[in-house]
Amino acid sequence: MDIQIRDCMSALAEMPDESVDCILTDPPYGETSLAWDRWPDGWPAAVRRVLKRTGSMWCFGSQRMFLEHAAEFAGWKMSHDVVWEKHNGTGLFNDRFRRVHELALHFYRDDARWADVYKCPQYTNDARARTVRKKGRPAQWIGATGETVYRSEDGGPRLMRSVLFSRSEHGKALHPTQKPISIVEPLLLYACPPGGIVLDIFAGSGTVGVCADRHGMKAILIEADHTFEDIIRTRIEGDAPLLKIGV
Ligand SMILES: C[S@@+](CC[C@H](N)C(=O)[O-])C[C@H]1O[C@@H](n2cnc3c(N)ncnc32)[C@H](O)[C@@H]1O
Repeated sequence: MDIQIRDCMSALAEMPDESVDCILTDPPYGETSLAWDRWPDGWPAAVRRVLKRTGSMWCFGSQRMFLEHAAEFAGWKMSHDVVWEKHNGTGLFNDRFRRVHELALHFYRDDARWADVYKCPQYTNDARARTVRKKGRPAQWIGATGETVYRSEDGGPRLMRSVLFSRSEHGKALHPTQKPISIVEPLLLYACPPGGIVLDIFAGSGTVGVCADRHGMKAILIEADHTFEDIIRTRIEGDAPLLKIGV
């Protein structure tokens, strides 16, 4: 685990071209007056340079944040997006709908072919078995005649849905915008090959590092605020999942 407590732009300037397998990051959305909540200009171009052409980037944010900085995502193609549905809202504005979701957008380099980009679709086993009625006899039907009803579903696995529900970390978080492991983990497994290197340039409390460590991946974590260094290390060292792969 490579933990660097410094400004991400200067750290990125020292990194070699095309040296990481994926990026999973959660930038300052720029929606509050908190000192750390400022978007560093030019970071999407700076991380693009260090990403392998077979790699991709998940970026958390709000729709407003992405639209405000849309020009900075030139050089990227967007492939899909995931919604994190929370149990509570952020309550930032009392003249709008209470926001109970955040976005994670998935991008790849515009000089890469989607077919060459590493991706590992995620599955769940929560589909319900159900009875399907057919008007005609199904093609694979052998045996009894006249029957138009058959069991076709086994209850899973199914492709993971693009809306993921998870309680926010409110009340137990070590960082004001800490992301839940249950949201970060499937994004990481989707984009980072086994044993690969993930880069998070806005590491906060190190959630991406905790997930990477659980799955035997290497993480480069960059965070400007030194008060999070011990928190990141303690979280990663203290994490004891039931199953830790590759260690
Ligand atoms: C939205 S938070 C990330 C929270 C993280 N996902 C977690 O689960 O704890 C963004 C973080 O970026 C950091 N940050 C802001 N500007 C930065 C910069 N120029 N370089 C590095 N980190 C920066 C902030 O200090 C803050 O901790």
